[in-house]
Amino acid sequence: MGIIPDMATAEVWWAALTDVRPWHAGLLDPVERGRRELYLREEDRDRFTIGVALTRLACGARLGVPPERVPLIRTCPDCGAPHGAPRVDGDGPRVSVSHSGDRVALAVTGGGPVGVDVESRAITTGDIEEQVLGPAELADLRGLAEGERQRGLLAYWTRKESIVKATGDGLRAPLTDLRVSAPGEAPRLLAWAGRPGLAARIGLHALDPGPGHVACLALIDQPHATVRELSAADLLS
Ligand SMILES: CC(C)(COP(=O)(O)OP(=O)(O)OC[C@H]1O[C@@H](n2cnc3c(N)ncnc32)[C@H](O)[C@@H]1OP(=O)(O)O)[C@@H](O)C(=O)NCCC(=O)NCCS
Repeated sequence: MGIIPDMATAEVWWAALTDVRPWHAGLLDPVERGRRELYLREEDRDRFTIGVALTRLACGARLGVPPERVPLIRTCPDCGAPHGAPRVDGDGPRVSVSHSGDRVALAVTGGGPVGVDVESRAITTGDIEEQVLGPAELADLRGLAEGERQRGLLAYWTRKESIVKATGDGLRAPLTDLRVSAPGEAPRLLAWAGRPGLAARIGLHALDPGPGHVACLALIDQPHATVRELSAADLLS
């Protein structure tokens, strides 16, 4: 009928570090404000603040409630502290947040679990390669031209981290257990050691975070979802 059902659209909102405004901090609840104060560097504080403000603004608009009243829960399954995956209480949308370098991403879906990951290219490679890649992936990466390797590593990394964020495992799951498609190929989870059947349920989508960054979106059980990337500049202005 020409209308895309909400369930079938995954939105990815992009903000830049320069989008932060003094009023954003006023949207945070007392627990979020406490976490904000723990950041020593202003830019880390700003990334956190933008992530929370964006989550509250986008979900509030979707639910028809003021941003301050969006019931966000972040209970860590390991220790109970409020630094785990964000969840909208009740029957709300599913969300995922990522920040790196100059970018903050918020992914929102109505249809199922979602994970987003953005990484800045200003990272060192070093032994990160061994922590992220399995032997075949490592060999593929090392076969790339020198100038392609950093972007290749970030493609592998964001593909894998978006998946473990969608499942909620985070980095408790060794990234070397996941096998994903090579950087030059369409993003795909090929296999996850010890988790048979999951590869068929996870869809990966390459995102466009802009210069100097690489990003990926993972959706679980949403094979027909359309991905829309949006600028958060107006929402945050
Ligand atoms: C989640 C995790 C993968 C983030 O990696 P990162 O590249 O450093 O950071 P990103 O910016 O991409 O993502 C951070 C966001 O992920 C979200 N997040 C936290 N835990 C998550 C989880 N288990 N699954 C999905 N998302 C999670 C939060 O929204 C967080 O943003 P916030 O700080 O604004 O709340 C990593 O920190 C992790 O695995 N944490 C959980 C494991 C852990 O530390 N357990 C011990 C705690 S007691």
